[in-house]
Parts: sequence; structure tokens; C-alpha cells
Amino acid sequence: MKNHVLRPLWVAIAFVALIFLARYFLVPSDFGVQGESFTYNYHRKSNVQEWKDFQVKYLGSDVCVVECHSENGESLMASPHAIIECENCHGPGVDHPETEEPAAMSVDTSRLLCIRCHADLNYPGTARAAIPGINPDEHNVDSECVECHNPHNPDLEEM
Ligand code: HEC
Ligand code: HEC
Ligand code: HEC
Repeated sequence: MKNHVLRPLWVAIAFVALIFLARYFLVPSDFGVQGESFTYNYHRKSNVQEWKDFQVKYLGSDVCVVECHSENGESLMASPHAIIECENCHGPGVDHPETEEPAAMSVDTSRLLCIRCHADLNYPGTARAAIPGINPDEHNVDSECVECHNPHNPDLEEM
């Protein structure tokens, strides 16, 4: 064969060889060893155990309300904030009831807690967002939101 045919051929072969070499070093040894099942084929087998060991951080509002905080729960569930999980504002608390870790959940009274959801993002061309927005630079700038709005029942008429 002529040189100008052979040279690109060698390049192509070298390229493919490089891919196989890289695959040899990069692909974990337990990848795709799970046998015949095609349902979950081609995964790293140790990944299954890693997800089983994954530490869940959140408990869910039901536990907070049923076990201890029925008052806050009732108030929250009857309010426009009903869809928000307690831990969305108070932080993850999977170990809070059992081992008191943390002993007290975080209570953030800063404007930032609320602004993260309520800053008016009135993007042009989109429908007004479902969450009522305020302009943080104009709406009662000198006070914390919770001085006027009850976080567990933000409707002003029923504070
Ligand atoms: C929208 C955010 C938000 C949600 C959701 C929320 N909280 Fe709160 N919570 C606050 C803030 C802010 C304070 C502090 C209020 C203050 O100091 O005026 C607070 C205070 C508290 C307190 C201490 C004061 C008190 O009222 O006794 C408890 C207990 C509490 N929350 C429990 C809960 C529980 C239980 C839930 C879920 C059912 C929940 N919270 C949902 C924001 C929230
Ligand atoms: C995780 C997002 C989130 C956070 C954090 C949050 N809110 Fe809300 N807020 C909502 C949603 C969702 C609604 C209900 C929207 C609807 O369905 O009308 C709402 C409704 C409201 C309303 C309107 C009530 C009405 O009359 O319609 C006020 C006022 C309010 N929130 C104040 C606050 C204050 C104050 C804080 C901080 C303590 C806060 N929110 C934190 C999501 C949030
Ligand atoms: C000094 C008291 C006061 C403070 C502080 C305050 N608000 Fe309000 N907020 C009101 C009053 C009064 C209204 C109803 C009249 C209005 O829309 O201005 C209202 C209305 C709202 C509404 C409803 C807007 C709508 O379109 O329905 C939201 C959401 C809200 N506030 C969120 C916040 C957030 C978030 C903070 C903190 C960053 C905050 N407020 C701080 C008094 C306050």
C-alpha cells in the first residue's frame, strides 16, 4: 500500500488502541459483573452498596408534627405555607428527635430565609410566579420578615 494510505491507517489504529488502554485503566473492575440480567445491566456493582449506606438527612414534616410539634404543624397546615417541609426552613433533622443531634433545630429569622423564595423574579415574558413575590430592596427593608409575618402562617389577617 502507498504511504499516504498507510499513515492515516496507523493513526486510526493507534487511536483505537489508546481508547482500549484508557478503558483498561479507567473502568472499575466490578463494572458490568452482575450477570445475565439486562434490567440493571452495565453498572458498577459496589454502587448498589454505596446507595444503601447513604445517610438520609431529612425526616419529613409528618414526624415533626405527629411526635412533638402539633401546634406548629396545625398552624402551618392551615396556611399558604402548608406545602413547605419544616426542614426546608429549619434544616435537616433526622437525628434531632432520637439523639438530639442537633439538640435545637436552626431557627433562622433573617430576611434571607424568606427572600430565597419570595424575591420577585418577574422575568419578562413569563407568567407571574406562583409564589407571591416582593422586592427585597423596597418591602419594609429595616425589619426582619417574621416581625410582621408568622412563618408558620404568613397570612397577615390570621397571625
Ligand atoms: C417558611 C419557613 C418555616 C417553615 C416551613 C417552618 N418553620 Fe418553624 N420557624 C420558622 C421561623 C423563621 C421561626 C422563628 C420565628 C420567630 O422567631 O419569630 C420558626 C420557629 C419555630 C419554632 C420555635 C418557636 C415556636 O413557634 O415555638 C418551632 C418549634 C418551629 N418553628 C417548628 C416548626 C415545625 C414543626 C414546622 C413544620 C410543621 C415548621 N416549624 C415549619 C420558619 C419556618
Ligand atoms: C421554600 C420556599 C418558601 C420559603 C422559604 C418561604 N415561603 Fe412564603 N410562600 C411560599 C409558598 C409556596 C407560598 C404559597 C403560594 C401560594 O400557593 O399562594 C408562600 C406564601 C407566602 C405569603 C403569602 C400569604 C398569602 O396571603 O397569600 C407570605 C406573606 C409569605 N409566604 C411570607 C413568607 C415569609 C415571611 C417567609 C420567611 C419566614 C417565607 N414566606 C418563607 C414559599 C416560601
Ligand atoms: C413591617 C411589616 C412587614 C415586614 C417586616 C415584612 N412585610 Fe411582607 N407584608 C406586609 C404587609 C402589611 C403586606 C400586605 C400589603 C402589601 O402587599 O404591602 C405584606 C405582603 C407581603 C407578601 C404578599 C405579597 C402579595 O403579592 O400577595 C409577601 C410575599 C411578603 N409580604 C413577604 C415578606 C418578606 C419575604 C419579608 C421579609 C423579606 C416581609 N414580607 C417583611 C408587612 C411586612
